[in-house]
Amino acid sequence: MDSILAGIKKALSGLFGKAVEDVAVGIDIGTSSIKVVALRRENGRAVLETYGALALGQYGENGIIGQVVNLDAEILAKALKDVLKETNITSTNVVLGIPSASCIIFIIQLPAEVEERDLPTVIPSEAKKFIPVPLSDVSLDWYVIPRREDSGSEARVLSESGGEAKMSILVVATLNETLVKYTQVLQKTQLPMESLEIEAFSNIRSVMTRELFPVLIVDIGASKTKLTIVEHGIIETFRLVNHASQDMTLAISHALEMPFDKAEAVKKDNGLIATPEHPRVPDLIKTHLATIFQEVNATMLAYEKRYNKNIGKIFFTGGGSMTRGLLEYAAPQFSAEVTLADPFAKIESPVFLKGVLKVTGPEFSTALGLAMKKLS
Ligand SMILES: Nc1ncnc2c1ncn2[C@@H]1O[C@H](COP(=O)(O)OP(=O)(O)OP(=O)(O)O)[C@@H](O)[C@H]1O
Ligand SMILES: [Mg+2]
Repeated sequence: MDSILAGIKKALSGLFGKAVEDVAVGIDIGTSSIKVVALRRENGRAVLETYGALALGQYGENGIIGQVVNLDAEILAKALKDVLKETNITSTNVVLGIPSASCIIFIIQLPAEVEERDLPTVIPSEAKKFIPVPLSDVSLDWYVIPRREDSGSEARVLSESGGEAKMSILVVATLNETLVKYTQVLQKTQLPMESLEIEAFSNIRSVMTRELFPVLIVDIGASKTKLTIVEHGIIETFRLVNHASQDMTLAISHALEMPFDKAEAVKKDNGLIATPEHPRVPDLIKTHLATIFQEVNATMLAYEKRYNKNIGKIFFTGGGSMTRGLLEYAAPQFSAEVTLADPFAKIESPVFLKGVLKVTGPEFSTALGLAMKKLS
């Protein structure tokens, strides 16, 4: 266990680092499906080689496609091998996403007097206050946020004792259990184990489009919605919402008395657009979106109050963002501009695929961001 963890910590320490290769594969193991994206470097540009997704429900006990499942490393490795085979991906230059749901991401402020060499002892003792599990159950990684000359914004954040904080540190605590499991998945798939990244970081890379103001990324997955506030490429707030797209499928399934797979299809076909055949579907979806949006607004408000800055833009990503009519419904509910992530626009792809890639982009933003990390 200890040696596995030592290896994983080495892998995670590359969180803010870079690697250089010509083909790179991003692997995003979500709770409902695995997504893979392969990129190739050509004349200095990132080009889409291939991509694909595989529903994990079929590997679970009742085999229902689209359903959220909790699978062990052995079965996940089998599913990963299957999707790599289906997409003809043979490169082993892979990077695997660690679900943000297994992490706590937060910023701590320390007095300026703290020396760099003391951080390995000071940070764990400060971080303890934010982590609801024993420190021995998590791996800590951190990044000292550079002071910016333009605003010095992080220096304006008050420390808990009320004085001016001088040093802001982004801390990521990841459950060791998840790190071990995901490393085992790579091992059992005969893939190198040294490359992991927390999905929130991958999404920033693939979703943001050089905004200079704070933005909020809302990743609506199958089981969880992840909220990440980012400014100048640095996470300033991260929140998990225990409400996501599968809740909408379950609501349709219960209310309209139809099996899960049918409800899943009805949700995707109808979304927020009412049809004579399924007039209740938009309202069933809206009930759950309302819960998510409440959390989004609360998170935005808390951030804006704490930092005295406004969120300029909200990016929706994750499969749940592909709900028909989502943007039109969301726009009037937020003070910031809302937009759908278009991650494939960042890379070269065949013209005939562009329409499809724009629609399906939100589902692949994590996998694409992971591949971009490897290629950069
Ligand atoms: N066109 C669509 N309309 C509505 N919902 C959709 C659409 N396409 C996909 N979804 C939903 O998106 C969810 C899957 O999204 P995604 O692949 O981002 O989840 P995941 O990564 O497996 O989950 P998580 O990130 O929570 O672990 C499913 O619940 C699916 O029903
Ligand atoms: Mg996901």
